[in-house]
Amino acid sequence: MKQIGLGLLGLGTVGTGLCKLVMENKELIEKRMGISLELKKALVRDLNRERILSQGQLTTDPNEILKDPSIQIVVEVMGGVEPAKTYITEALKAGKAVVTANKELIAKEGHELLTLATEVGQDLYFEASVAGGIPIIRTLKESLIGNRITGIFGIINGTTNYILTKMSQEGSSLESALAAAQRKGYAEADPSSDVEGWDAAYKLAILASIAFGSRVEIDKVHVEGICKIEPEDLKYSQELGYTLKLLAIGKNSPEGIQVRVHPTLIPQQHPLATVSGVYNAVFLEDDSFGELMFYGRGAGELPTGSAVLSDVIACGRDLVLGKAGSLNCTCFEERPVLPMDDVQCKYYVRLVVDDRPGVLAKIADCFGSNGVSLAQVIQKGYEEPVDLVFVSHRVQEGQMKKALAQIEALPFVHKVANLIRVEGEEQFGTAAR
Ligand SMILES: NC(=O)c1ccc[n+]([C@@H]2O[C@H](COP(=O)([O-])OP(=O)(O)OC[C@H]3O[C@@H](n4cnc5c(N)ncnc54)[C@H](OP(=O)(O)O)[C@@H]3O)[C@@H](O)[C@H]2O)c1
Repeated sequence: MKQIGLGLLGLGTVGTGLCKLVMENKELIEKRMGISLELKKALVRDLNRERILSQGQLTTDPNEILKDPSIQIVVEVMGGVEPAKTYITEALKAGKAVVTANKELIAKEGHELLTLATEVGQDLYFEASVAGGIPIIRTLKESLIGNRITGIFGIINGTTNYILTKMSQEGSSLESALAAAQRKGYAEADPSSDVEGWDAAYKLAILASIAFGSRVEIDKVHVEGICKIEPEDLKYSQELGYTLKLLAIGKNSPEGIQVRVHPTLIPQQHPLATVSGVYNAVFLEDDSFGELMFYGRGAGELPTGSAVLSDVIACGRDLVLGKAGSLNCTCFEERPVLPMDDVQCKYYVRLVVDDRPGVLAKIADCFGSNGVSLAQVIQKGYEEPVDLVFVSHRVQEGQMKKALAQIEALPFVHKVANLIRVEGEEQFGTAAR
């Protein structure tokens, strides 16, 4: 039985989940894999907190892990870019395999770290960095390695999915749904990375790089969070036959890659529309399997611990088989990322306008003169000003923006309250055709 020593950088939510699973499933892992995982040491800041590991296994000195020859796999579950990046670099250079759950680090510094891992012939795995307990990274890197993925549609931020679900089910405001998420521990005290879309953007950059074989820099991802969503948008979108989700979208077309995170309307019949609360899902499209959807918990001690454990076992297997470093970077080409103005979509537009004769005709004229054709128009409200809601046919985003700039300048238009992209109708249709 090959004994493999584990050192943890961090012993919070995810680190504790990993330790629990290593302890509970020790015999199962030994029988299935023929390797024995030994929890050696964990780096923490506070030595006095009660932990799943004994006092003697805790340290505040990273060198006790990075320089310990009995540790073959270092698990980084501390978060943040630094000092995590420095520690991972040292671990790889010291000949250790590394597992991390850190999406921000992999999205920003993954290329450099994966290149180093390959140079030194070590594994650098990061399954838990995207969609928590859903095993999507290894699925893309191994099971689907021979497929040409054309589309990725992900609900990969549980906090915003909980907020939008609550707003749509209870008609509540964003502020009160966020407060409820914080009370339940689904949102952090500073929720900006979640509600502004950055958490999903880091994960999309990782997913798209692997799925399309072309590295996507985080600053190329178009990011819009859910801050502008109002209860009215959820109410009208339901009436129109849609469900509103914060989607992370990747598309691979001959002209280039699209990578965008934004609120999106999808038909109520779309499988992603059923994914509610803190659950995550990743929906993939290609020309051979058609559609695949992966569903599960995107965060939490044991779901995320399970994803980290799968990486640890993969590292252990690679150590035993002597093939470490063979599955690190899977990018093989550099594809351009399409500017948003060139992206084609259907759009939901909500305007707040004065309710007078001729208003609709003038607005329709602005849309028409910019090549925007309308599929549906509804007027809501009895007291001035009123909401006017449009659903367009597919059009280039640049044209839609030109039309909205003209509309916003009209004297009877109070504001363009929202512009929301519509996706998924090709396969799943909607009432709003
Ligand atoms: N939580 C989830 O459900 C989840 C899901 C997917 C991915 N992730 C990712 O997993 C990673 C860990 O998340 P988490 O929720 O487990 O975080 P956490 O509960 O805050 O735990 C972080 C751990 O790292 C230690 N730590 C942080 N900075 C340190 C430093 N400079 N020196 C020494 N120790 C340090 C902390 O020590 P103390 O305990 O002494 O403070 C703590 O044990 C993050 O990258 C996160 O994005 C988390």
